[in-house]
Amino acid sequence: MSGLVLGIETSCDETAAALVDEEGHVRSSVVASQADLHARYGGVVPEIASRRHLELVSPVVETAFEEAGATLEDVSRVAVTQGPGLVGALLVGLSAAKALAWARGLPLVPVDHLRGHVATLYLEPDPLEPPFTCLLASGGHTIVVAVRDRAGFEVLGSTVDDAAGEAFDKGARLLGLAYPGGAELDRLAREGDPEAFSFPVAKVPGLDFSFSGLKTALLYAVRELGEDGLEARRADLAAAYQRAIVRALVGRLRAAAEQTGDRTVAVVGGVAANSELRAALSDARFAPLALCTDNAAMIASAGRYARPLVSPGYLALDAYASA
Ligand code: KG4
Ligand code: ZN
Repeated sequence: MSGLVLGIETSCDETAAALVDEEGHVRSSVVASQADLHARYGGVVPEIASRRHLELVSPVVETAFEEAGATLEDVSRVAVTQGPGLVGALLVGLSAAKALAWARGLPLVPVDHLRGHVATLYLEPDPLEPPFTCLLASGGHTIVVAVRDRAGFEVLGSTVDDAAGEAFDKGARLLGLAYPGGAELDRLAREGDPEAFSFPVAKVPGLDFSFSGLKTALLYAVRELGEDGLEARRADLAAAYQRAIVRALVGRLRAAAEQTGDRTVAVVGGVAANSELRAALSDARFAPLALCTDNAAMIASAGRYARPLVSPGYLALDAYASA
């Protein structure tokens, strides 16, 4: 076995490592989530995330090798998330990747996290060929992009305030669900009536998104119901709130595809796991469920198409916080 790409991802609260071969077969993908650690704070605490990454990165990389039945000798390049994300968290993965690559004189490929999410679609067993129009909706980002080749994309629209995943998490919190509440809200919504409340879909010009008004509308609805009223209507609120987010996402993706003329549309990022969004876009290509939220297989996949830096020129490479 040779020519494996080792991927490492530590941009937020998942410590992840994966081995992917040049054709895009995932040999292993290990994700250690820190979500429980941050739940009691209601969000990711950067300093805690960095420290936990430091503890987890070596065992997670080792497990990725074990599960693939491979060693560092089988690796031809190391791909690592350079940004955007929490700088302290990113630096842990970046340092680990530099050390592993430099020790063996391997090339290092710095990968943009957002390109990583899109590169999920290039993995076997059903790799997608550009051109296509893609919605990337996660906890940190919401953009719609035109993909012309596997090396990158062109941004057509983005959120002017909260990301879609952030809207899910903030809504979940208002409904009393634990952080990160997107998946839980998705489950609760299945028991509710989406027509029971009418939440507005923000009208933003062009292909941009806005979710902060929706969050405020939910806040007012929750306040109006009071504690007892809320308990009885939680599922309805979840269903109506989710419906508004899904409508906004579907509307923008469709409008973007009309603009690009692409026949293929795709969805990636944590929110691509949402069951209502998947049902509403039955013709779209979705990242596999297990690879919607942050993972390193997507980073290794993107590492196949980004420019590798030769040893030891990458040792001074820095992480970046925003795109
Ligand atoms: O891509 P990701 O792991 O992290 C970022 O790069 O930001 O996305 C995490 C986000 C969280 O906001 C989480 O609540 C949301 O994805 N999410 C969902 C679902 N599963 C995860 N949102 C809605 N429905 C879901 N089923
Ligand atoms: Zn992500």
